[in-house]
Amino acid sequence: KKYTLGMIGLGTMGRNLLLNMADHGFDVTGYDKDPKMLAKLEEDGKEKNLKGHASLEEFVQSLELPRRIVLLVPAGPIVDSVIAELQPLLEAGDMIIDSGNSHFTDTSRRAEDLSKTNIHFFGMGISGGEEGARFGPSMMPGGDKEAYSAMKEILEAVSAKVNGEPCVTYIGPGAAGHFVKMVHNGIEYAMMQLLAEGYDIMKNSLGYNNEQIEETFKSWNAGRMKSFLMEVTADVFKFKDEKTGKLLIDLIKDEAKSKGTGKWTSQVSMDLYLPIPTINEAVSTRDLSKLKKLRVALAKAFEKPEAKIENPEQFIVDLENAMYFAMIVSYAQGLHLLTQASESYKYELKLDEIAKIWRGGCIIRAELLQDIYAAYQAKPELEHLFEDKNIQQKIAGTLSGIRNVCSTAINHGIGIPAFASALTYFDSLRTANLPSNLTQAQRDFFGAHTFERTDEEGIFHANWNAEN
Ligand code: 6PG
Repeated sequence: KKYTLGMIGLGTMGRNLLLNMADHGFDVTGYDKDPKMLAKLEEDGKEKNLKGHASLEEFVQSLELPRRIVLLVPAGPIVDSVIAELQPLLEAGDMIIDSGNSHFTDTSRRAEDLSKTNIHFFGMGISGGEEGARFGPSMMPGGDKEAYSAMKEILEAVSAKVNGEPCVTYIGPGAAGHFVKMVHNGIEYAMMQLLAEGYDIMKNSLGYNNEQIEETFKSWNAGRMKSFLMEVTADVFKFKDEKTGKLLIDLIKDEAKSKGTGKWTSQVSMDLYLPIPTINEAVSTRDLSKLKKLRVALAKAFEKPEAKIENPEQFIVDLENAMYFAMIVSYAQGLHLLTQASESYKYELKLDEIAKIWRGGCIIRAELLQDIYAAYQAKPELEHLFEDKNIQQKIAGTLSGIRNVCSTAINHGIGIPAFASALTYFDSLRTANLPSNLTQAQRDFFGAHTFERTDEEGIFHANWNAEN
């Protein structure tokens, strides 16, 4: 008897996904260089009689044709070395599905290289962390569509479900799957930064304690902002440290790390000339947080403005509106980038399908995605989420809130890079006449870069130094 699918890399994600597949009745097996990982798979999968292989050759030989091999190894050069080891053991038609957070350009290159050998290469983003992998992630596979049909049944079975519908769909050709997962993470960065700023404002402007902060996030999660990130954020504020009995949040250093997917999203957005300022701010603020020594020194050099909130009851309502507004903006920027990438890279993305599979299983799953899904379903060619009437209505109701929150935080000297950028992004986008005419005039003044006119077609240059 041969196995339906094999997993290479039996760390937490790989092992959990394999256990999930076994739960759904698939005959699966795994391979890992580390005997401890093999032992762990067999221990956790005892009930299902899950077996792993210590030899790559035996592992490959144990799989039915065409082979389905999923990689869940750290992104980067390890993926290349695993492929190089596998390649001589494979046959035409076999499939390699890289499910780590690989950079999409690596995925394009690998797909291109392997297509010459008739091996199908898929880049698949998986979101949902350990729990997701074990009980239902959101999955974003991209690559050869025909080969995808050989994976479809398994992926649909193990994915998260929303209203009975699987949170997986064929994303598009080439590296489309990894691209979409990368942008998912960019949105994740923005949402996390917004939640952090909300915490800062509650703590330092409203003077809330951790219990009040937990209650607030919890109440938001009971409303229109119901989402995975809101839920876990609320839970953070009640978690006690085992050693000291104190709330753990107060013992964690205020220096945020990252593994790169957020940065990649910002980098690509610049390459495509497509603005996603709130995501950019989220990336930069993690970097800024690491400048601890400098921050401590500057905190001594400059005093924080003294300020008081006159009407705390109203302010917390405003903060809810501000958060909702900025969450919409975060999704809107990410989706806008996907629209542009789809055109530039010929990914043939279907934004309604993407919003649909993000509704469950993934880190950015949220009630709001139902409205976003509806917007793109009603008009798949929507250029920007802000054009949707329902979204416009939602935004309109939040504007006085976000304006008050931003101005208050600024007056209190609290850094709000994500909130402020979300608002100014919105204000710039809903401005028919920007001051960019001045930018063009300056460019032409000192560099003869030319400009276009509002009253005449053509390219112009003025003799700016002439007296007139
Ligand atoms: C997911 C997460 C997952 C992981 C990120 C975190 O969708 O399940 O996005 O991929 O948590 O890699 O990235 P940072 O370490 O950069 O915060």
